[in-house]
Amino acid sequence: MTKIIKVDPVNFRKDELKIAIDTLIDGGTVAFPTETVYGLGADAFNSRAVKKIFEAKGRPLDNPIIVHLGEFDQLDSVAKHIPRWVKDSIDTLWPGPVTFVLPKAKKVPNEVTAGLPTVAVRMPAHPIPLTLAKETGPIGAPSANLSGRPSPTIAEHVIRDLYERVDVIIDGGETFFGLESTVIDATEDPPVLLRPGPMTLEELEEATGKKFKIHPVALVHEKVNTPKSPGMKYRHYAPRAKLILVEGDYDKALDRILELYNGYRTKRKKVALLVTKETAGKLNLSNDIIILGDRRNLYTVAKNLFKALRELDERNYEIGISESFELKGVGLAIMNRIRKAADSIVKA
Ligand code: TXA
Ligand code: MG
Repeated sequence: MTKIIKVDPVNFRKDELKIAIDTLIDGGTVAFPTETVYGLGADAFNSRAVKKIFEAKGRPLDNPIIVHLGEFDQLDSVAKHIPRWVKDSIDTLWPGPVTFVLPKAKKVPNEVTAGLPTVAVRMPAHPIPLTLAKETGPIGAPSANLSGRPSPTIAEHVIRDLYERVDVIIDGGETFFGLESTVIDATEDPPVLLRPGPMTLEELEEATGKKFKIHPVALVHEKVNTPKSPGMKYRHYAPRAKLILVEGDYDKALDRILELYNGYRTKRKKVALLVTKETAGKLNLSNDIIILGDRRNLYTVAKNLFKALRELDERNYEIGISESFELKGVGLAIMNRIRKAADSIVKA
């Protein structure tokens, strides 16, 4: 039986989390909100507990998970040889949506790191996982979706994917950013951006004084044969509907989106457009629109993206057509997720 606990994400008493804390300590699995997406957690030092996460999600065993800390003192128990620049900037970056890949400490079981000599670590900027991990110690947690599905940003997504597959689901409302953390490989110098996220490259370079390299998979260009991060080789975030991403010059893309839409409509396909408020206004359509957010504030698009991908399926669309965004700031993370979810990318 999965227990669902409703908790206010900011104003809660610690005893409201007692069941979740006890479950983690006893080697069970708990889904919880973070500032990025919902995570599915287990005691990071308990290999049997960690295995349950992989089973519940149907996650390939060679895709390592992120360890979540509740306080800075826990870092040395999971990672070693932490570079100077990480130590010097960590107080300003954590808690926050950035994950560092570091050499792993002995205590971290191979199930967490999928046998790699490195471990991915972050301290989430969300009162619920911070409180949990303070009480239980480091928590290993990937996103709380079935493997391959869009990451959950509300508890309903988690319930739909994982009900009766996990011990506890904490319903703490909607997550703040809606996209998973930025992942940086800090074992390299210069450090390498493996996965763009809510903490932008520009912000990270400013905070660390480092110039980062961008791994090709972060841009999702071509298929990469030897992925640096094992998670990168799997198709992600995919709705059941066929997703088409239209890239290129904005005005040309608008024409192309309409052309594609009308073409599919003629063939009697159920097709929806994933577009911003501004674009919807320009296209002058009222049906078959799923609003992604506001082009002038791409954090709104980040927040709604995974919900929009799930909505395609919930409304039984066969095809979704998405507009694209500039590859800078949080736009880089948005484009990474849409490109990964897309079946095809069309150049306008
Ligand atoms: O925001 C987030 O990061 C969320 C919340 C729950 O914290 N978690 C999350 O976990 O997105 P997951 O498992 O869905 O993504 C973890 C990513 C994967 O791409 C994985 O391959 C990579 O981090 N990763 C984990 N350990 C790694 C390692 N040792 N070396 C390289 N990449 C690693
Ligand atoms: Mg995931």
